Amino acid sequence: MEIIDGKKISAQVKEEIAIEVKKIVDAGERAPKLAAIIVGNDGASETYVGHKEKACNQVGFESVVLRFPETITQDELLAEVKKLNDDETVDGFIIQLPLPNHIDDQIIIEAIDPKKDVDGFHPVNMGRMVIGLPAYVSATPDGIVELIKRYNIETSGKNCVVIGRSNIVGKPIANLMLQKGMDSTVTICHSRTKNLKEIAAQADILIVALGAAEFVTADMVKDGATVIDVGITRVKSDKTKNGWKLLGDVKYDEVAPKCSFITPVPGGVGPMTIVSLMKNTLAARRKEYYK
Ligand code: GUN
Repeated sequence: MEIIDGKKISAQVKEEIAIEVKKIVDAGERAPKLAAIIVGNDGASETYVGHKEKACNQVGFESVVLRFPETITQDELLAEVKKLNDDETVDGFIIQLPLPNHIDDQIIIEAIDPKKDVDGFHPVNMGRMVIGLPAYVSATPDGIVELIKRYNIETSGKNCVVIGRSNIVGKPIANLMLQKGMDSTVTICHSRTKNLKEIAAQADILIVALGAAEFVTADMVKDGATVIDVGITRVKSDKTKNGWKLLGDVKYDEVAPKCSFITPVPGGVGPMTIVSLMKNTLAARRKEYYK
């Protein structure tokens, strides 16, 4: 059994990106620039955006965070999105979700120029990804593919079972595993799936993204499977200093011994999500996907 080390791989990818940024800057060109919009005072959003800023610094990107009050109207926010669309010094930007209830996330997402949509949430990027065109892929699914490739995990002709059908993980990762080059046979399971246990137990690669702590038990996993755990649920614990611990969607202690590869929580998929955003921003700077 090998533990997939997301922290190590993310550090490696960041170093590779930093080398590419240095080449751009040494050639006298502008460094890539990522902007982030935060609305309101959501603590988790502040933390995530803080991590993104730190990663930008590490790889040599410029970054800017635009903060707006909870009371901003949808039209005012749309005007800010337009400003970033038109700003030639900004290569890519993200709008940290969730947004306040009076703002429709989807309307905001669809206002982003797909060429700058480094979160990969715009339907144009989703659609392009599904039909195999170059596109910004959202952070978590892209991070999973990166881990699978860097650990040389065989995917061609393998049974891949995805548990969860969210727009930001389940649907995109299922499509990516299906693409030419990955070539898996993909099954997607969700809350209404019958015989989920039996289907999961057929998987050579089991990707779990449903957000239910320790949902996957040893009897649902085939011997020698690769298990990718996307879940993170914070639960109270009397064994940690801060009184909390993080649990994945997989009952790690009993599942890990059966696996050929497994991602831990934390330290598996999580650290990869930020590097995917960095990869997309570098691609945006180089206009790799769109002219
Ligand atoms: N909120 C939680 N995850 C994400 C993400 O990947 N991108 C954005 N924009 N908001 C989020």
